[in-house]
Amino acid sequence: MSALDFSTKIGSKRFSNPIFTASGCASSGSELAQFLPLDEIGAIVTKSIMTKPRTGRATPRMAETPSGMLNSIGLQGPGIDTFLEVDIPWLVSQQAKIIVSIAGETVDEYGVLARRLRAVNGISAVEVNISCPNVENRGQVFACHTDTAAAVIEAVRRNIGGELPIVAKLSPDVTDIVEIARSVINAGVDGLALINTLLGMVIDTNTMKPKLAGKTGGLSGPAIRPVAVRAIYQVHQAFPNTPIVGMGGVASGRDAFELILAGASAVSVGTATFGDPTAVIKIKNQLSELLTQRNFDNFRDAIGFAHRGV
Ligand code: FUM
Repeated sequence: MSALDFSTKIGSKRFSNPIFTASGCASSGSELAQFLPLDEIGAIVTKSIMTKPRTGRATPRMAETPSGMLNSIGLQGPGIDTFLEVDIPWLVSQQAKIIVSIAGETVDEYGVLARRLRAVNGISAVEVNISCPNVENRGQVFACHTDTAAAVIEAVRRNIGGELPIVAKLSPDVTDIVEIARSVINAGVDGLALINTLLGMVIDTNTMKPKLAGKTGGLSGPAIRPVAVRAIYQVHQAFPNTPIVGMGGVASGRDAFELILAGASAVSVGTATFGDPTAVIKIKNQLSELLTQRNFDNFRDAIGFAHRGV
């Protein structure tokens, strides 16, 4: 049997393998570099960056849940100036494939961030995070409405220029994710990232108060994997030619395979990294073995396989 072609594509960009980090779970990659060579990861998706430095929400801002975790980080980060001066050159020096995630409080801020990225060398794509659940009000979750989701993507498309693929990160906390996907595809995205965390809450029965200082947080981990599989399946069925970066509770190569069968062209590993910083490489190796066992010699033939003949 011939060697597996493990490469994947988003827009015009090719990635050597389909296992990426998830935004927010490995910052800009430096924490992971002590455990593994970053150039072996399909892509590092950086923590969503904003126009200004942010300290994020008050602590405590993480809580364990059954088969999952709640976070309420609040988009902590150094801001775009430091990110471009420090983080990007360092990632480039590691030969990492870079997908930059951006987040804004207004449509205009997304446009400003896109303009800052347009001339930066070494970036393979931009993830437009319009679905962070840990914002001041739900009106800032642009991915909850078709018109606001499209407005952000139009602003990014206008400002980004060139060929940099745009990937919109969507929220599962909507009635019909296919309609949101349709609006951002019509507004010009090259791909979708499915799914961000689900809005959740934990109350400590001893203190009888919410465990998180911000009260609510985003639920991630294996508990949400069936939601991710459902969302990816529905969106791939409607838009089979739009690449999807799937994520949500992937902890093994088999989990990644499930998202790929549903329609993902790449898979991001997030929460699993907190328990095992080498998870992303282990999952990549397990997936490669599984694909070979199932007689795939081209990874791309497995994308959306669950839809065939159904
Ligand atoms: O709170 C946070 O920084 C989370 C961001 C996200 O889930 O997009």
